[in-house]
Amino acid sequence: MRVAVCPGSFDPVTNGHLDVFRRASVLADRVIVAVLINKTKSSLFTVEERIEILREVVADLPNVEVDSFYGLLVDYCRERDVPAIVKGLRAVSDFDYELQMAQMNYRLGGVETLFISTNPLYSYLSSSLVKEVATHGGSVEGLVPDAVLGRLRAKLEPGRSD
Ligand code: PNS
Repeated sequence: MRVAVCPGSFDPVTNGHLDVFRRASVLADRVIVAVLINKTKSSLFTVEERIEILREVVADLPNVEVDSFYGLLVDYCRERDVPAIVKGLRAVSDFDYELQMAQMNYRLGGVETLFISTNPLYSYLSSSLVKEVATHGGSVEGLVPDAVLGRLRAKLEPGRSD
């Protein structure tokens, strides 16, 4: 595979996402992790913070780069000549919506979607759950990269000094 895009909100990136990036980077010559700029959805981390974190966590993957996009993913793909989207599929609950999006993206832009079955270690994991657990003081160690752990603490416990 030539180029593939891994799109998402990544608010924040989890170890499940990272596993998908790594595996996609073996299949594709070049992988673009693309952060959606969504002006209508409130987020914990700004797009700039998410990009910074993502760049840190994919630093050891030479063929993976990080970018952001606004609007339709198929437009982003067309402008950059990206033929394929790669996404992780965690469970049957993901399937209906992912299939709808894959079919729409193919119809709109002829862009293929390839699914990587998520590592079972992370099949229950989502960015929203990470935020919820961390907000209430639960540990998310091992579920997100270390680059996220420190920043989560700083966001959620601004007075803390470590
Ligand atoms: O991490 P998320 O929020 O589940 O990712 C969803 C994302 C960004 C992949 C999806 O919402 C998307 O592609 N949005 C861009 C707008 C778009 O192209 N919408 C039509 C999808 S068929």
